[in-house]
This record gives sequence, C-alpha cells and structure tokens, in this order.
Amino acid sequence: MESGIFDSHAHYDDRRFDGDRTELLDGLFASGKLFAAVNCGCDIASSERSLRLAEAYEGVYATVGIHPHEAENATEDDYLRLEELCSHKKAVAIGEIGLDYHYDFSPREKQKEAFIRQMELAEKLGMPVVIHDREAHKDCVDIATSFNGVTGVFHSFSGSAETAKILQKAGWYISFSGVVTFKNAKQAVLAVEAVANDRLLVETDCPYLTPHPYRGERNHSGYVEHVIAKIAEIRSESYEFIETLTRENAKRFFGIERVVT
Ligand code: NI
Repeated sequence: MESGIFDSHAHYDDRRFDGDRTELLDGLFASGKLFAAVNCGCDIASSERSLRLAEAYEGVYATVGIHPHEAENATEDDYLRLEELCSHKKAVAIGEIGLDYHYDFSPREKQKEAFIRQMELAEKLGMPVVIHDREAHKDCVDIATSFNGVTGVFHSFSGSAETAKILQKAGWYISFSGVVTFKNAKQAVLAVEAVANDRLLVETDCPYLTPHPYRGERNHSGYVEHVIAKIAEIRSESYEFIETLTRENAKRFFGIERVVT
C-alpha cells in the first residue's frame, strides 16, 4: 500500500546538502517516510542538477526554470537550453518562475519578461508551472491567470484566503510550507482553511523554511510531517487524511504514477 509524504518543492542540490545528500535521501526513502520529492531548478545549472538527482532516485522528480532572481542574467542560450531540458522524462513542470518584489534582485520589468516568456513555453509544451510569488501577489496572479491553457502551483503560498480562492477557481494548486507552523502565521492559517481538498499540496522548500519546532535548522522532507500535522489541526482532519490527500493531489498535478511495492 502506498504511504508517505509527497514533498512538492525541495532543493536537494543546494550545497548545504553536500555532506550527506545521499545518506539523507536514502534514509528518507528507505524508511517509507518520503514517497516522492520534486526538486526545483532556479537557473540552468540548478535545473540540470535537479534532473541528475531525478535520474539517481526513482522518487525524485525535477522542475526546470529560471527564478525571478536570475531573470536579469538569463541569456537566449539559456532559454534554448531550458526548452531542451523540458523534454527530459522526469521534468514534471517549469519552475520555479514568478516574481520576487521582496529582494528585487532583478529589475521588475526583467522579472515579468522572464515570467511571461516561461509561461509561453509552458503553454507551448503543455506543461504545468511552479510559481514563486514573494510580495508580488497581484502581478503574479494577473500574469499566471492570463494564460488560459496553463495551470500550476503557487509554492509556499503567502497570499490571502481571497487570493487562494481566485487561484483554485482558475484550476491552480496551492502549496504550503513550514511557514504555516510559525507563531505569527495568521494569514497562512486563513489560507489553509480556504483551500479546497483537491487543490492542496505540501512542501519543504528545503533547506529553507524549516517548520516549528526545528526553525533555524536545515530543513528536509521528513519535517513536512509538522506541516501536515498543522494543516490537519487547522482543518480538523486526521494526519493520515492530509498526508494521503496531498500525495494524491501531487501525483495528479505532476502527472506521476509511482508504483510502490
Ligand atoms: Ni524554492
């Protein structure tokens, strides 16, 4: 019988896992705690690393894309290479793409240009997208929903319950990270209440966003149990129900049929 966590957003290629990546992933899969993880690319190099990880682990899948932080530096060759990477059999979505008005590492016009260009690629290839939206809710939602043929997930959702409702009505998924376990997460709690059963995903965004009570430590997929437990509490459901629901939703969203014996 299938069981375990589906971590919809991770960065195991991050150098903070260099010392124990294999041991950690082997342990998570061997224990049955982790069903699958999607490793997300942020530029061409990390997208390629994500695909290498996906080749090495049956339960790891990859997204390929150019993060808003990298929008300014992306070249024409990068976009050509990105399209090639999309054809890899374990490339399950384009991402993470979107807008980040918190750091503004790339000028906003460049961020929008890169975002729209990758939405167009997703439309052309019929792939879902993984959206990074930091303090850019309105522009992100406007651009994302302006493409009728493309849906995806807003990762580590930080918008309002109203925004979550708009997105799920348009066919989008909402993913929650360790942020929901933080003490001041009032808006996230309201959003968790607002999301429909069939639109809900969970994630680590590891090595970042470690849930309470491990906040400050390096995050990993095993800690998603604290995210699931918090969501279960907010929605008055059992842990098992939320774990199974988010696993089934992620399999459907990413188009994954993993046979576990
Ligand atoms: Ni991420």
